[in-house]
Amino acid sequence: MKRTEVKEILLNTPVGSEVNVKGWVRTRRGSKNVGFITLNDGSTINNLQIVVEADNPDFDKLENIYSGTAISVDGEVVESIGSKQRVELKAKRVDILGNVDPDKYPLQPKKHSLEFLREIAHLRFRTNTFNAVFRIRHGLAYAIHKFFNDRGFYYIHTPIITGSDAEGAGAMFQVTTLDLNNVPKTDDGKVDYSKDFFAKKTNLTVSGQLEAELAALALGKVYTFGPTFRAENSNTTRHLAEFWMIEPEMAFYDINDDMDLAEEMLKYLVKYVLNNFPDELEFLRKRLADEEKNKKKEERSQDLIEKLNSVIDVEFARITYSEAFDILRNSKPNKKGKFEFPVKEWGIDLQSEHEKYLVEKHFKRSVIITDYPKAIKAFYMKQNDDDKTVKAMDVLFPGIGEIIGGSQREEDYDKLYARVKDLGMDESELWWYLETRKYGSVPHSGFGLGFERLVQFVTGMGNIRDVIPFPRTPKNAEF
Ligand code: 4AD
Ligand code: MG
Repeated sequence: MKRTEVKEILLNTPVGSEVNVKGWVRTRRGSKNVGFITLNDGSTINNLQIVVEADNPDFDKLENIYSGTAISVDGEVVESIGSKQRVELKAKRVDILGNVDPDKYPLQPKKHSLEFLREIAHLRFRTNTFNAVFRIRHGLAYAIHKFFNDRGFYYIHTPIITGSDAEGAGAMFQVTTLDLNNVPKTDDGKVDYSKDFFAKKTNLTVSGQLEAELAALALGKVYTFGPTFRAENSNTTRHLAEFWMIEPEMAFYDINDDMDLAEEMLKYLVKYVLNNFPDELEFLRKRLADEEKNKKKEERSQDLIEKLNSVIDVEFARITYSEAFDILRNSKPNKKGKFEFPVKEWGIDLQSEHEKYLVEKHFKRSVIITDYPKAIKAFYMKQNDDDKTVKAMDVLFPGIGEIIGGSQREEDYDKLYARVKDLGMDESELWWYLETRKYGSVPHSGFGLGFERLVQFVTGMGNIRDVIPFPRTPKNAEF
């Protein structure tokens, strides 16, 4: 018999149909007279209940079926009386495809901590939580492509290996085939990169932006969506060493067009998940509410679905860095010395405690901050006439902080070149980027959305390591 997926059975298969299902047992219980198995095959977060009666020739097999056992069942779809589902399956034949040793299998049908599940990331897909998270992660990836495709953007694949440092942050992973035990040296004792694979020093990219700009200056509207790498030693719930970034880049867009697109996109994506993943969201909502029970009332986060709806319904606040700085400097926590990083001098970088205050306490909604001091932003951002600030924009989300960083780009060759020189950047690694400002240069803008931070926001997961299948963080590259 051909296999039918659980999702199809639960939604569409008529009562009375004979079907085969295959999947993994979530739970088994029962008595001498009847056995119940809940089965999941990944096609939906919901399980199919299977009823095995005592007169079934395979009834004896039940005692060897555990949480985690892979089975195949032939049976009849019958109306469900007890379970929450429309239908269940009355088993005719049960086969064990792959069993587990219940004493050794690390996943038990009980609540495991997320920390423990991280250590068995090869198995954590099998839990309801990760089932829901990775289904939504997929949905968001799909919705991102759909959003851009529907608006005439082209998906550009930018390189993973690069010689340039787009963000000037300096925290990059080097790519080399040199023998690290026997590194070739030049006469003056430096590493001889002419002997390396690319005959130059190369790294894993921190951003696809610079290359996306080249494409936007011909194709008009483009986006990248790929892995990016940062070797910062940040052990936080918001940082990964390997994460995925979405970077749209648009010719003829100024900073306001850029912000409008960012806001429209974020709302579209949240709405997409609300419309398409109600069961997963309901599961995650309950999970989060359960977790929050242990916290003090004032520390509890908002109901997940309420939080998502509030993002869709409310306009993001838009303020300049200088306005944000004034709000923070005059804020209660600052005056009372509650900030770890006191807000004193204009020009400081905003820390996550500051972002949190602005979003969660002051504005109580998402905030876009523009016109940051040029000293704390990347070289490519368009310089304002005040000579102090640049046309940057960061989108801050409740519970997440910075979810998007973007800007209008400096399209003036002389100004851009001066900035590259000022910062002591290696011009020879950027000649191609600079050249676009000599030939048909136009105003253009773009931004980068951290994919995992978006998934975190939508799923309510507190730690970024729990929204990517195999997290890469300092001292951790298992699996
Ligand atoms: O603000 P960032 O560094 O901006 C850029 O890379 C620009 N080139 C984007 C552009 O204008 N095309 O990073 C963009 C976003 C951040 O807002 C954050 O959401 C995410 O990427 N991000 C990280 N996510 C997880 N782990 C990290 N270590 C991250 N660093 C940045
Ligand atoms: Mg940033």
